[in-house]
Amino acid sequence: MWYFYAPKTVYGEDAIDYLEELDEKRCFIITDEGIIKFGLIDILTNKLKKLEKEWNIFSEVEPDPREETILKAAKQCQEYKPDLIIALGGGSPMDVAKAVWVFYERPDLGIDDLYPFIKLKLGEKAKLVAIPTTSGTGAETTWASIITRKTDKGDIKLEQVHKEMIPTIAILDPVFVKSMPLKLTASTGFDAMAHLSECIVSLWKNEYSEAMALKAFELIQKYLPIVYKDGTDMEAREKLHIAANMAGLAFGNAQVHLGHALGHVLGATFHIPHGLTVGMFLPYVLQYILNDPNSDATKQILGTFAKRAGVAKWDDSDMNAAKKYVDEIKRLQKVVNLPSLNEMITRTQLDENVDQMAEWCLESPSAAMSPRGAGSQEFKKLFVHAFEQKDVDF
Ligand SMILES: [Fe+2]
Repeated sequence: MWYFYAPKTVYGEDAIDYLEELDEKRCFIITDEGIIKFGLIDILTNKLKKLEKEWNIFSEVEPDPREETILKAAKQCQEYKPDLIIALGGGSPMDVAKAVWVFYERPDLGIDDLYPFIKLKLGEKAKLVAIPTTSGTGAETTWASIITRKTDKGDIKLEQVHKEMIPTIAILDPVFVKSMPLKLTASTGFDAMAHLSECIVSLWKNEYSEAMALKAFELIQKYLPIVYKDGTDMEAREKLHIAANMAGLAFGNAQVHLGHALGHVLGATFHIPHGLTVGMFLPYVLQYILNDPNSDATKQILGTFAKRAGVAKWDDSDMNAAKKYVDEIKRLQKVVNLPSLNEMITRTQLDENVDQMAEWCLESPSAAMSPRGAGSQEFKKLFVHAFEQKDVDF
């Protein structure tokens, strides 16, 4: 028996007006300082004011949010006693909000209790509304909360997952991405590209996810370069926003794997934005799984996907078609100036950290979903190949 999980999804111009439909009156908003500074919070609070709803704001979410931040927000939420929790921002505020929702409803639980096999019974005290202000993370639709924990050996990212943490409602209103800087548009767009590209070959791949991934690819391939050229093109902004959500639905129901394992570890070690890391690793990861000596399944799936997506011809062999897909990813990376690994860190930084990073990749739950396994040696070689921008030949 399989399920397809999704929040109620409201999208398009003025989607924010959906708040009128909700009877809840007391809102706890989780966001970050950038959202306050750039005035996006005002769009939300003006709407709440008009609807005569009350609100309280927690705006201390940092990039790569730490468990201490979640506990602080949860305490504030428990004191305020909302009937609506609203996450406004990119992946970080939404990830924090999911965990805060759990601890508000279940104060008996801690961060290490967030694993899939317990019943949470969320929704008795509040609904969770997620409003993304970037087009890429898909966090408004997934069941994961990525939380940074300090350890003796450096920072690690915990990948806490629970089906009940999927937000009740996702609101995709392009007004919130209208002014997104182009660099952020490129990196978050490539996060979405990594989601759809990894999930179609993951061990949990399924027809529903593949359908979502195909449409998401078509929209991102077309509209990401348009938005990157002209960020004021609202039609393109809206299409990209929807595409990122569809990629979120795709991977939320099928999972990502090696690219996200590598990306989370690199991001936690050097505090590099998530989309840059997973987007950069994508071609190397695809090449690695296509080189699987024990199975042709990935070649067949990715080759067929490339043909359906129009980046390969129907008479191409599976491997050639799959290679054309990898080439298309590389082309799009160049179009939006996505940096390579050697533009993010130095060789010395790589050499000093690569052994430890490879070990941490082994602990990533994402890695377990890969169609081709990887040990510490393979992870290490993937880091080195990405740094040297060499095609993966192993
Ligand atoms: Fe991601």
